[in-house]
Amino acid sequence: MNIQIINGPNLNLLGVREKSIYGDASFESYLEQLVARYPNVTISYYQSNIEGEIINKLHEVGFTFDGIVINAGAYTHTSVAIGDAIAGINTPVVEVHISNVYKREEFRHSSMLAKNCKGVIAGFGMDSYRLAIESLL
Ligand code: DQA
Repeated sequence: MNIQIINGPNLNLLGVREKSIYGDASFESYLEQLVARYPNVTISYYQSNIEGEIINKLHEVGFTFDGIVINAGAYTHTSVAIGDAIAGINTPVVEVHISNVYKREEFRHSSMLAKNCKGVIAGFGMDSYRLAIESLL
């Protein structure tokens, strides 16, 4: 089983940025725990701050991998192009957010990705990624 995790803009700063919202752990340290928890799953990780690179990664893995977990960061709310990329691939995609976007500013309540995803998980901190993997297994 091959699962790709994709993190979008500013998520390279997890553990540093806005700790009261996103916590103080880096994604790399969380990823180590995830990988250890699922020895039978190959978990690949990709992060980019660039919209087109996220789209290229979706195209690259979206016909061969078993599942994709994506936190597109702020692109979630703006990117028709990432939404279209998800619509165009075969691999099921789960949208995740660390924070409960529905408790936050109005502009975070809408997603350009969600209607093309298998489901959406938001508000469980880093554990949102684990719940997304569980949903794909
Ligand atoms: C986020 C929520 C987005 O609104 C925000 O732009 C992010 C992170 C989250 O994981 O809670 O960068 O996707």
